[in-house]
Amino acid sequence: MMPPGAGGGATSVGRMCGIVGFTGSSSAAAPGPEGLAVVLEGLRRLEYRGYDSAGVAVLADGPGADGTPPGLTSAKRAGRLARLVEALEESPLLEGSTAIGHTRWATHGGPTDANAHPHLSADGRLAVIHNGIIENYAVLKAELQAEGVVFASETDTEVVTHLLARTLAEQPAGGAGALAESMRRVCRQLDGAFTLLAVHADSPGTVVGARRNSPLVVGLGDGANYLGSDVAAFIAHTKEALELGQDQVVQITATAVEVTGFDGTPVTPRAFTVDWDAEAAEKGGHPWFMDKEIHEQPKAVADTLLGRSDAAGAMVLDELRIDESTLRGIDKIIVIACGTAAFAGYVAKYAIEHWCRIPVEVDLAHEFRYRDPVLTPRTLVVAISQSGETMDVVMAVRHAREQGAKVLAICNTRGSTIPRESDAALYTHAGPEVAVASTKAFLAQITACYLLGLYLAQLRGNLFPDEVAAVIGQLHAVPAAVQEVLDGAEAVRALARELVDAPTVLFLGRHVGYPVALEGALKLKELAYIHAEGFAAGELKHGPIALVEPGQPVFVIVPSPRGRDSLHAKVISNAAEVRARGARTIAIAEVGDDAVLPHADVVIRVPAVPTLMAPLVTVVPLQIFAMEVATAKGYDVDQPRNLAKSVTVE
Ligand code: G6P
Repeated sequence: MMPPGAGGGATSVGRMCGIVGFTGSSSAAAPGPEGLAVVLEGLRRLEYRGYDSAGVAVLADGPGADGTPPGLTSAKRAGRLARLVEALEESPLLEGSTAIGHTRWATHGGPTDANAHPHLSADGRLAVIHNGIIENYAVLKAELQAEGVVFASETDTEVVTHLLARTLAEQPAGGAGALAESMRRVCRQLDGAFTLLAVHADSPGTVVGARRNSPLVVGLGDGANYLGSDVAAFIAHTKEALELGQDQVVQITATAVEVTGFDGTPVTPRAFTVDWDAEAAEKGGHPWFMDKEIHEQPKAVADTLLGRSDAAGAMVLDELRIDESTLRGIDKIIVIACGTAAFAGYVAKYAIEHWCRIPVEVDLAHEFRYRDPVLTPRTLVVAISQSGETMDVVMAVRHAREQGAKVLAICNTRGSTIPRESDAALYTHAGPEVAVASTKAFLAQITACYLLGLYLAQLRGNLFPDEVAAVIGQLHAVPAAVQEVLDGAEAVRALARELVDAPTVLFLGRHVGYPVALEGALKLKELAYIHAEGFAAGELKHGPIALVEPGQPVFVIVPSPRGRDSLHAKVISNAAEVRARGARTIAIAEVGDDAVLPHADVVIRVPAVPTLMAPLVTVVPLQIFAMEVATAKGYDVDQPRNLAKSVTVE
């Protein structure tokens, strides 16, 4: 949303940016680690959150070269982090072991140096960075301008800087905690969503943060402490972390972390240990994070299955904190999610309805809240989110709970907002996903949804124990099948190089193949900027077939010939229909399925798996296809234009 009063198409920005704060020591005699280096390293790991400008501020440990007193130095640049690094090489900042840094993703207006963060007070002694939107920005700005404050940018963030500077000036000089107290006072005046970090030249060795509706976690180091939008910001240094709740202010020094509510009440934050390491967030020899993450899919599925069934194949989901009688009484499930996670929900609908006989709706989280959904205490809302921070999903979760529904989060990120605000959480164990376009989280989300479906079916007696055990067995066979696809991916890569100039690509699927078609099209849009559409194969004749011209590439997700009903025959007919109109048909089909041969120009083979397991396998060639086309076009696969990994604005 655009802050009101931004006017004239000016650069008004909402953000879901990456934020890092660090303090090691403030003593000029015994300085701690170089703050700038720690913060730049954190920003590099967070760059996937937003990457259209970057900036840092450092509190200097000692006097400047010209003998000026210790103070604050900063730099910021539009563009990728690399541009900021170049600028810092040309004009280095003063050294200091307390620093903050920011990468930005703008929602409105072009990113410029002036609008990049940090934003400084008029005297240059206070620096503020921000993720989110200050909704009452225009009113506050008008007040400040009436007092004679001059604004240097068009952002809403700068309002916070000037308010904080003004509030700080009203505090007793040199008072310990003055910056934190001022931050609390300012936050009480703000509406909207925000994570804020601030450093001030009069508060050496101190970083103050605040959070409302935007993510912020604390990293606990040895003689150093960290703040980050997520743990990736400090994972190279520590795995020990603290979760911050809503409306809290945190003050870190090298040796202490103090958390309070916006009203000043002390809070004891919940500690957690990050269960992955820095190496897992590195590329590990792959050209892209996405390539690495695609190759981690067998492990992501296997790890998500780990420990969720006993030796007899019965489901154990200990972490579900919703009592069994409530789960037995559920009469409707609504899945809420965005992007790829929503497609995982569409896949889950077929399985859960089949196993549990409970109606399942799938809603895009941003549509859910506004359609006045029918929610009762017998509704189970399943919120799927890799990051756990997608604002559209957060708001939908809140709405569902307000209406009395139970909410279960399926999430990949511990310490994040969505599982914390839900009644229960089922974690996917995909490990950190860095590439903006989601891959391994998708497979892990489907796996987790299936576990939930089987658990409900077991609990409610819809499936016999041996039936549950049989499906669990099928799930355990998926990692090997995915590995087979990865090992044989050269044909897909060759096809991608051949189709690099296709202006538009269509994807057809039926039943669980339909969400796979949607995901295949989304991947190609996201990464290769090619117009792509996914269709339910049966819908083709009701409109989309008019798009087919000679040479038009059409992917067809072909179900197993051994599968249920006449799905296979129906999809083969749909392939024949487009091919008869000149389409270049590319079949994703099971090994040994020769019935596709007369109707396909190209056949990409996948191993034979049961119908409901097929999405976990057939989506993999589509992911690789999109990545290869984007690579061949010379695009940045990990950070596609205009996108961000974690969309923390509505
Ligand atoms: C963004 C990402 C997508 C992702 C979606 C949902 O749009 O670019 O890749 O699928 O958000 O993210 P979540 O973290 O909620 O799964």
